[in-house]
Parts: sequence; structure tokens; C-alpha cells
Amino acid sequence: MKKTVQDYIRTIVDFPHEGILFRDVTTLFADPRGFRMCIDQLLHPYAGLEIDKVVGLEARGFILGGAIAHQLSTGFVPIRKKGKLPGAVISQDYTLEYGTAVVEVHDDALASGEKVLVVDDLLATGGTAEAGIRLVEKLGAEVVGCAFIVDLPDLGGRRRIEALGHEVHALCA
Ligand code: PRP
Ligand code: ADE
Repeated sequence: MKKTVQDYIRTIVDFPHEGILFRDVTTLFADPRGFRMCIDQLLHPYAGLEIDKVVGLEARGFILGGAIAHQLSTGFVPIRKKGKLPGAVISQDYTLEYGTAVVEVHDDALASGEKVLVVDDLLATGGTAEAGIRLVEKLGAEVVGCAFIVDLPDLGGRRRIEALGHEVHALCA
């Protein structure tokens, strides 16, 4: 039987903390068929849609976002954890399981009205994706889609992103 994207993802028990089932997409990225299938399937719903920029969330969203932007012939914009980008930035706080974190984007990375596809490997609580969406919107750009390889449905990320008025596209749970 033909392998699915999910078949290429490995689960590591108790990483980075006891009780976490960590979805390791490095095994998917390392396989040429798996990686191509993943990029093709992430892009599927957006065929024919106008997209100006792909925005990737650190860190695994960079690997996906670069490949997707190349495929679409668009530019790629990274959203990074605090303190990593060299130019002037805008910032957004978000909540982690314990405490808060900050992500940033260069303040000139997107133009007002640009149509953006936001990508990351995994949607858990949705805090990271929500922060990314808020940064895109603060720059006046428009989120036309949010694409993930994995959606962990019990953690509420999909509901959180949909409550912001955006559709979630995910390949597996
Ligand atoms: C992981 C994953 C997402 C985020 C999802 O990144 O790649 O970006 O968590 O979780 P959330 O939906 O609850 O926000 P992580 O924070 O581990 O950062 P990394 O990719 O830089 O290791
Ligand atoms: N980020 C948050 N939860 C995760 C999980 N279970 N696997 C991989 N990345 C994650």
C-alpha cells in the first residue's frame, strides 16, 4: 500500500518532557518521496489562489516554507523567536504551556495588502500560529491560508485559528 504523509512521521515518547508524544517530522523531511508528497499536499487547497508571500514559523516552518515558496515562485518571510532578526522588528507575545514567549518579524517584510500563506509543521495549542497571524495582520497583509502537516486536535489549535476567521489545512492528526 502507498505510504501516507503520516507514515513518514516518527513519534518520540517523553520528549522534551515526560508525557509528551513528540511528532518528529525529520523522518518525513529526510525521505524524498515523503517530503515531495507533503509539500504537494500542503499546497493542494491553494491551487489557483493568488499568494504573494509564504510566511514560515521557526523552526520547522522554515523548511516547509522555503520549499513551498520555491514551488509557488513567491518570496519567503521568516517569523523568528525574539532577538534573532537583525533589522527593525515588530513583536507579538504568545502563551506557552508554562509562561509566555515572543515572536518577531521584520517590520518591512510584508507590504500592506499582500496575500500570505502561513506554514508550520504542527498545530498544538495554536499559540504560535495565532502570534504569527497577528504579526502578518499588524503589517497590513492578508492571511489567505494556514497550513500544517500535523494538527493535534485535543489541544484546541484549530478552533483557536478558526475563531480568528482563518481556515486550517492539516494533513494528519
Ligand atoms: C513547535 C511546532 C510549532 C509549535 C506548535 O515549535 O513546530 O511551531 O510548537 O505549538 P503551539 O500550537 O502550542 O504553539 P517549538 O515551539 O517546539 O519551536 P521550534 O520549532 O523552534 O523547536
Ligand atoms: N509542539 C508542541 N507539541 C508538539 C508535539 N507533540 N510534537 C512536536 N512538536 C510539538
